[in-house]
Amino acid sequence: MKIYKVGGAVRDRLLGLPVADIDWVVVGASAEAMLALGYRPVGADFPVFLHPDTGAEYALARTERKSGRGYGGFVFHASPDVTLEDDLRRRDLTINAMAEDDDGHVIDPYGGQADLEQRWLRHVSPAFAEDPLRVLRVARFAARYAPLGFRVAPQTLELMQQLSESGELEALTPERSWKEISRALLEATPEVFFDTLEACGALEVLFAEFSALPKPLRKLSLQALHQAAAEEHPLAVRWSALLLHLNSQAVAALSARFKVPRDCQELAQLAAEYHTQAEHAREMDPEALLQLLQAFDVYRRPQRFEGFLHACEMAARAEGRPSWPEGAYLHGAAAAARAVPVKPLVDAGYTGQALGDALKQARLAALTKLL
Ligand code: CTP
Repeated sequence: MKIYKVGGAVRDRLLGLPVADIDWVVVGASAEAMLALGYRPVGADFPVFLHPDTGAEYALARTERKSGRGYGGFVFHASPDVTLEDDLRRRDLTINAMAEDDDGHVIDPYGGQADLEQRWLRHVSPAFAEDPLRVLRVARFAARYAPLGFRVAPQTLELMQQLSESGELEALTPERSWKEISRALLEATPEVFFDTLEACGALEVLFAEFSALPKPLRKLSLQALHQAAAEEHPLAVRWSALLLHLNSQAVAALSARFKVPRDCQELAQLAAEYHTQAEHAREMDPEALLQLLQAFDVYRRPQRFEGFLHACEMAARAEGRPSWPEGAYLHGAAAAARAVPVKPLVDAGYTGQALGDALKQARLAALTKLL
């Protein structure tokens, strides 16, 4: 049996980038041989094993054939006679279809190194189209490597277009889609992910609500997302900056489609609903200001409100405004409302509704001082 490093680890080493985790492929071995060596199987009928000591993934060289619609509709053929070249051929992009042996010698049957040098994201073979997730993967790689000058090869974009038109994208599970989307959002130029999806027609299938925005608003949203990435804001702020110009039903529909984690979903929905108000914060009376703070539950969820302010600020910066003074103002208002102590009112005997009313009056008084 022979063992090779494959996929992202080879690609990123050749690009001079840090390598996070290493995938290995094992040629000339059977499942029985792996088990006898102490490797632990990952699933019942999936030819992937975990190393007994390191926990790294070792996959038997395999070929794949699509057997039906949707994910899981794959037949694997893993046996000792599957060659390294066979295994590399089933992979998505040429830059992901290279292997490296123990001596650091690169095996590159499909031109991965040339495409690395010329900055092409190019499919390996027509089998690319057997996995619709690859539309999202390529868009994600485009987002990740755009700063290095990478772009999608025209023929690959064509295959992505065909996949988008075929209805196959609808068969992706929410979990797999969100995994790609969230990873793309966390890249340094996440707007390229959405530009790429638009270029291949996938945006209107997967993000119909966003795609329906007028073009200038879409551009502003992507610019806001870019800004959020440039300032290294967390995922929820990035997701919210992207969706700020949608209405809250559209945000809810998108969030449900991809089973978006609660923190991202909540923040995006609140941001879509309240960002226009935030723009007018300095004209608000204390009553309206307090209502805005209550909507975010700033007393128990101060961080969420900060995330909201960041998303609004990114949108303002996308419009070319150098600063967003409403942010500091609302930050101060939230701090003032939160600083009102509850204990003296409880000690004075207030309970229930009366306590709520007294707290509200004290908070209004604190906000009035700010005006
Ligand atoms: N792969 C593929 N098609 C997919 C998923 C994975 O061809 N739908 C192949 C690619 O060769 C890829 C390898 O499996 O390089 C490992 O996949 P994964 O770990 O998801 O990605 P990496 O390429 O390692 O990239 P990342 O740095 O994003 O983890």
